[in-house]
Amino acid sequence: MTGCAGFIGSNLLDRLLADGYRVIGVDDFNDYYSPIQKRSNIARHLNDNNFTLIKSDISRLPRRYAPRNDETINIVIHLAARAGVRASIKEPLLYQKVNVGGTLKMLELAKELKVKHFIFGSSSSVYGNNTPVPFREDAACDQPISPYAATKRSGELLCFAYSHLYKIPTTVLRFFTVYGPRNRPDMAAFKFMDSIANEKPVDFYGQDTSRDYTYVDDIVNGILAAINFIPDNFDIFNLGNSSPTKLSEFINTIEEVVGKKAILVKKELPQGDVQTTFADISKAEKILKWKPKVNLKTGIEELWKWYKMADR
Ligand SMILES: NC(=O)c1ccc[n+]([C@@H]2O[C@H](COP(=O)([O-])OP(=O)(O)OC[C@H]3O[C@@H](n4cnc5c(N)ncnc54)[C@H](O)[C@@H]3O)[C@@H](O)[C@H]2O)c1
Repeated sequence: MTGCAGFIGSNLLDRLLADGYRVIGVDDFNDYYSPIQKRSNIARHLNDNNFTLIKSDISRLPRRYAPRNDETINIVIHLAARAGVRASIKEPLLYQKVNVGGTLKMLELAKELKVKHFIFGSSSSVYGNNTPVPFREDAACDQPISPYAATKRSGELLCFAYSHLYKIPTTVLRFFTVYGPRNRPDMAAFKFMDSIANEKPVDFYGQDTSRDYTYVDDIVNGILAAINFIPDNFDIFNLGNSSPTKLSEFINTIEEVVGKKAILVKKELPQGDVQTTFADISKAEKILKWKPKVNLKTGIEELWKWYKMADR
């Protein structure tokens, strides 16, 4: 698994190890946000015999990575990326290097290791602003509005090419605004919670955008369902809550859980941010037998519990 120390990756790691998988995790602990938070995310597993941590940039992994003698790598779950729409506008070349070049590197490794399944963590951002809602997996996705979205779509296309050329069964999972314990601090859920808790002003972008906020355990369950369903060749699934929430309602829920009011500073919607996200999840329901279960209030309560005790 790449990106094992990150928000989604570390939550997945907990479940994979609990379920008895043996995991080789790769992460470079870069400082896009606090590496202390990333180290703390996986600290409990460092002495687990079923876990090997490789602290490396994915693009620096040897092309012929040799697992230990007794090991075969069956599945690659590729979650490492530069995430974040706004930062991608400031540093497009870095995003291209990690999200496109890094994904290509992982596909090359998957080819060399003859893995049985490649799973790629993609994003709802590939749908851009012009896809009819709810977003379906068969939409064109050819009008991304940020470098981040364009790099994630590029990653998907490379996945398709490799699945075609080398017959690597490949699953692309498009995550929709994930929130929960270990949340990335650059994301809305964390930023609003942090500023509300500390009574600091916080920017409120746009005219009440809406997002299909999806709880991290639901995403983890979706990835586990995808592990257990190996496609013939290539498949894409939306993993989203399929129930968009207005930003104002999202903030109200955080205010209720934290017990304080937000100090909002209204701002224009930044370039690159989409107006709405809304997943059609009928395909994942039918084929992966997956459905999100956690409602917003419960999810925000779990985020709050973590927020109060986390190392950052
Ligand atoms: N969080 C969301 O709402 C969301 C939504 C859609 C898609 N995604 C995708 O899911 C994946 C995980 O996102 P996240 O929110 O957990 O982000 P995250 O930043 O918390 O996790 C990514 C991890 O990858 C690592 N990483 C980054 N570049 C690396 C490199 N070159 N080599 C090795 N490791 C590297 C980081 O250190 C980090 O620990 C990403 O691919 C992201 O694009 C996330």
